[in-house]
Amino acid sequence: MFEVRSVLLLLLGVVASTQGANILGLFSSHSQSHLIIHMSVAKALAEAGHNVTVVSMLKPKLTHKDIHLIVIPMKDEQELIMESQMTEMANQKNSLVSTMNRLLTGMEVMINAQAELLSDPRFQRIYETKFDLMILGYFINDFQLGVAHKLKVPVIIDWMSAPAPIIDKFTGNPAEVSYVPLLGTVGTHPLSFFKRAENLAKFLFFEYILVVFDFKLNRIYNEVFPEKDQPTLKELRKNISIAFVGSRLIAEGPIRPLVPAIIEIGGIQVKDKPDPLPKDIDQFLNKSTQGAVFLSLGSNIKSSTVKPEIVQTIFKVLSGLKENVIWKWEDLENTPGNASNILYKNWLPQDDILAHPNTKLFITHAGKGGITEAQYHGVPMVALPIFGDQPGNAAVMEKSGYGVALDLLTITEDTLREALKEVLENKKYSQAIGKFSALYRDRPLTAKQSVVYWTEYVLRHHGAPHLQSPSVHMNFIELHNLDIYLVIATILVLFVLLTRLVAKFVWNKFRGKGKISESKKKQ
Ligand SMILES: *[C@@H]1O[C@H](CO)[C@@H](O)[C@H](O)[C@H]1NC(C)=O
Ligand SMILES: *[C@@H]1O[C@H](CO)[C@@H](O)[C@H](O)[C@H]1NC(C)=O
Ligand SMILES: *[C@@H]1O[C@H](CO)[C@@H](O)[C@H](O)[C@H]1NC(C)=O
Ligand SMILES: *[C@@H]1O[C@H](CO)[C@@H](O)[C@H](O)[C@H]1NC(C)=O
Repeated sequence: MFEVRSVLLLLLGVVASTQGANILGLFSSHSQSHLIIHMSVAKALAEAGHNVTVVSMLKPKLTHKDIHLIVIPMKDEQELIMESQMTEMANQKNSLVSTMNRLLTGMEVMINAQAELLSDPRFQRIYETKFDLMILGYFINDFQLGVAHKLKVPVIIDWMSAPAPIIDKFTGNPAEVSYVPLLGTVGTHPLSFFKRAENLAKFLFFEYILVVFDFKLNRIYNEVFPEKDQPTLKELRKNISIAFVGSRLIAEGPIRPLVPAIIEIGGIQVKDKPDPLPKDIDQFLNKSTQGAVFLSLGSNIKSSTVKPEIVQTIFKVLSGLKENVIWKWEDLENTPGNASNILYKNWLPQDDILAHPNTKLFITHAGKGGITEAQYHGVPMVALPIFGDQPGNAAVMEKSGYGVALDLLTITEDTLREALKEVLENKKYSQAIGKFSALYRDRPLTAKQSVVYWTEYVLRHHGAPHLQSPSVHMNFIELHNLDIYLVIATILVLFVLLTRLVAKFVWNKFRGKGKISESKKKQ
């Protein structure tokens, strides 16, 4: 009886410690595409009954009625700098060096803004609440780990894509530079000599950037958290419980080891089950027995700001298709033209439309979000990228065999018609992306379930320090046993030298003896 009672009490204790925990999400990265991923994590936790408070700089597009939002925007002049950099990048072809330069100045502004946020009175108020856990949306802002220390709570890092070298460092994960491609390295495995060299160069470049920023990050950290008993930033970086990463490498590749503290939640921003579609769209798709094409050029570029000639080209090709078309178009008073097979809508639930079984093709501007959703639902694509990361995304999409990429600014009726025909009629695209989709979705826990399970795991086990790889606490020399190699090499060298010395000695001795005996004979 007593045992049953204590077991019950224990269970209650466990439940009490994880149910309705107070969780702080610190998502101050100045990017909607980052924010949507962090907010999806927050939403999963709110839906699981936790009291989630989110601090961000941008007003999130995705939220949840139970999430307490604290939006602390950037200063106007900072906003202006960020914006002018974006437009500059959008309007010209950029060399790697100029992109890097802009990125670095942009990052300076972003880092400063993320630091200033911590001393804002609206932020300071969070210290009045007793929190149980903090989730840090990571983007060169690790000085914010000081907040978790001040709150005395465990930290989870949320990262938008596959584990980058810095995430590997936080968790003690092996970086495996010889076959894990870094940003923009595309190659067939096993990587050739030059591909590996390219990858290693990128790795070293990132290491260099981290060293450059490290100085700044430490300075900011010491300014914002001047308390005497405050641990160093270096110590706090070694006290991260787990990292959520936006990948599913079993489907995306390449296969690589991941320590248990890295939890993959790729596709967290995609709904597990589609919401019911608005009635008219549902009907339109249901009667699209020949299949439907979905065209959306994203939210950043209004379709109506694309040049009218290009819009007419697209209209002429789409109105001639036997498939139905849903076209995202803002200005419903002035549509590109009337056609019985085209439905214009100024607002569309993109994810739910891609989930409809009759949707056969997605014409996209190749934003990361849209591509992820299409991959999740197994819909092949024709990409019409414009700027920023879009051409790169489109190239990777095409290389993976999920569709065809064209340049929006130079399309003609012929090239567009050919591309649509190719992707709609050649089965290889839908097969390739269908296979990916099946692998991507086949998981023991959905992305949402993983978020909830592992967050509660960290709560249940008070930061789960047992999950940490010992390598987090080793320096480069220890981790790679360089000191031991050095000792072995020294011993070997000493041994060789000693042997030579002995050999010389013995040799001289014998020769000496020989000479002596010879000279004796002569006598
Ligand atoms: C939920 O979090 C807010 C802080 O955003 C706090 O004021 C409130 O007391 C919390 N609710 C509970 C039940 O702990
Ligand atoms: C469309 O088809 C689905 C599945 O067959 C059905 O559940 C839904 O009610 C249909 N919608 C309309 C508006 O007819
Ligand atoms: C399309 O049809 C609507 C009415 O159904 C009409 O008001 C509009 O002028 C037509 N547009 C064109 C370009 O023909
Ligand atoms: C390290 O994390 C644990 C929880 O995971 C926390 O209790 C502890 O205070 C943290 N240590 C420091 C130095 O912040």
